[in-house]
Amino acid sequence: MTPKETLLIKRGHNESELASAARILRDGGLVIIPTETVYGLGCSAYSAIGAYNVFEAKGRPHDNPLIVHVADPAEAENFAHTTPLYYKLAKQFMPGPLTVILKKKDVIPDEVTAGGGTVGVRCPSHPTARELIRLAGVPVAAPSANLSGSPSPTTFEHCVKDMLGRVDAIVDGGACEVGLESTVVLLTGEDSLKILRPGAVDEGALSCVASDVTVADGLKKGEKPLSPGMKYKHYAPRVPLILLDGTDEAVASFIDAEMKKGGVFFICYEEDAKKYGNKAYSIGKKEDEAAHAKNLFAALRYADELDDADIKKIYTYLPTDGGTGLLPAIYNRLIRAADHTVMKV
Ligand code: TXA
Ligand code: MG
Repeated sequence: MTPKETLLIKRGHNESELASAARILRDGGLVIIPTETVYGLGCSAYSAIGAYNVFEAKGRPHDNPLIVHVADPAEAENFAHTTPLYYKLAKQFMPGPLTVILKKKDVIPDEVTAGGGTVGVRCPSHPTARELIRLAGVPVAAPSANLSGSPSPTTFEHCVKDMLGRVDAIVDGGACEVGLESTVVLLTGEDSLKILRPGAVDEGALSCVASDVTVADGLKKGEKPLSPGMKYKHYAPRVPLILLDGTDEAVASFIDAEMKKGGVFFICYEEDAKKYGNKAYSIGKKEDEAAHAKNLFAALRYADELDDADIKKIYTYLPTDGGTGLLPAIYNRLIRAADHTVMKV
């Protein structure tokens, strides 16, 4: 790939800077946009070349479809076949961290949907994302803005690290509020849907809108989760990640002993981080699941980028399998990053 000159649009940008980014999008260029879940690597959803270039910039297999972002749920009419259930979901959860898969119309090129007949629709709640989409005047196809194989980016700095020279512009929107990618649902009937990827909109919340909510194979409690998009390689750190299954006391004494031996790094709660200095990264207070979700990818990136050849293992707690709220999403991302490596302590 020939390196591109990347326009960096920092926080506090003015309307005309955002308008330049919008123009790039409209003209088929690549712009990284902040959303409340993770940053997205966007292009016009009507541009076949733009979509092709998104896959190239990420190093992503061309058969994994992109999500299309809108500033208002009703804009889905322009490119997808909506249903009453779509609007019921939109009323409840959009703008917000939910992607709904609908049948696509012909205006969406095959490059966006990887040749498939459906398209994911998402209306992000981040004000900068919505403003950019509105200014661009086109729906924006965007996967997460990481290089294929690294965790989704949740800060401007993560995006610069992965994508400088590979995209036309990066727009800073601060740290992503949610920190984990959207819940993806497939509408399977008039009043039924299937969760394909867990996110901040949980099964209970969806059940208040659709009477029949199921979860895809591999996502049920106790089942071995499949890769994202079912068959694609998921993020795995350079140094193996191991999930510790045990009481707080058992984990603490195991980590103490491992720290004495050396060669380990601990992704942990704020309460424990101080004890281990630069060998630990805090994802927030123990009870604060929102903080864990928000900080998880930054923690994985941090651990992976440690310029410390002595680190041989990364440990963290095994999160609860099942549960409500963000727990299924946290479990899903961590168990895959650890390649299902769980150690009883
Ligand atoms: O929060 C998010 O969803 C972020 C932000 C940027 O919006 N986007 C994101 O995109 O995570 P991506 O491409 O990294 O993940 C989208 C997932 C993939 O696993 C893909 O296989 C699935 O959604 N997906 C997209 N379109 C689909 C479709 N038409 N049918 C089935 N799965 C689809
Ligand atoms: Mg992704």
